[in-house]
Amino acid sequence: MSGKYATETLEATKSGIARAAEILRAGALVAVPTETVYGLAARADSDDAVARIYEAKGRPSFNPLIVHVASIEQAKKLADFEPEAERLAAEHWPGPLTLVLPRKEGAGLADAVTAGLPTIALRMPDHPVMQALLAEAGVPLAAPSANRSGFISPTSAQHVLASLEGRIDAVVDGGECSAGVESTIVAVRADGSVEELRPGPLDIASGTGGKGGVEAPGQLASHYAPGKPVRLDAKHADSDEFMIGFRDVGGDCSLSAEGNLGEAASRLYACLHLAAASEKPRIAVAPIPEEGIGKAINDRLRRAATPAD
Ligand code: TXA
Ligand code: MG
Repeated sequence: MSGKYATETLEATKSGIARAAEILRAGALVAVPTETVYGLAARADSDDAVARIYEAKGRPSFNPLIVHVASIEQAKKLADFEPEAERLAAEHWPGPLTLVLPRKEGAGLADAVTAGLPTIALRMPDHPVMQALLAEAGVPLAAPSANRSGFISPTSAQHVLASLEGRIDAVVDGGECSAGVESTIVAVRADGSVEELRPGPLDIASGTGGKGGVEAPGQLASHYAPGKPVRLDAKHADSDEFMIGFRDVGGDCSLSAEGNLGEAASRLYACLHLAAASEKPRIAVAPIPEEGIGKAINDRLRRAATPAD
């Protein structure tokens, strides 16, 4: 093992979660499972703890973090909830929906959490381990995906360790994430209009306009990069390609042989991690239908296929 920190792997048990909460309260970093991907958590009210997230990930400081909350009441202390925001939270929380809302002044959060923006991204996760940690830590937790900036998001504790071992204090091993792609992000503007900033497991904003316009500042065109060229909409692999299949297109790894898009989302990052680690220098991916969660899968695949500038 190398790196600045001896990264502990904790079990998702009462004692493991109690230890993780203790580490978090002390201002250190713990990777935690959520229903979407593993998050790299730190107390959101500490400048030092939040600075450590940016350092561990190598994340640019202009890219704000999602703040995770235990309840709508806790969220309301941090942001202004217009009726539309209230409705969305009541309908979809806990769940894979992040709301970008006007930030409340004087709420006691580290400035770096919102990277100087007047808005804040809030999410109440639907995962027993993250919920238990939020309850025990007693403070909102900032948590971006637990990967080095620009790399593939983690859906298992092994993915987290491959990217961040030695750079963080602990990871709670809660098995594989069920949804598999990051939360849907929508901004609710002061006039109540809703704008989708990142497609995800929930299809919220279809038909409300604003798509393809403003984006989350961290959604760079090249993101989720496996470190090799990626070819999309492939029906067959060339001999030097690791093939990620779907439905009747087979491969070295299949997102879903049955053509189930939910299963494909939950397996997306695991297949990309296998492809990144394989000896093949290139990656090919079968066509994925642009419907439902398929839109989020294709969004991540297009970014994985865009070379960094
Ligand atoms: O499912 C998820 O959302 C996971 C789990 C851990 O909760 N988290 C996650 O965090 O995907 P991250 O940091 O990888 O992506 C958060 C995105 C970034 O693109 C960031 O730019 C955007 O949210 N974001 C954060 N605050 C924002 C704000 N105030 N306005 C617009 N976008 C914001
Ligand atoms: Mg991320």
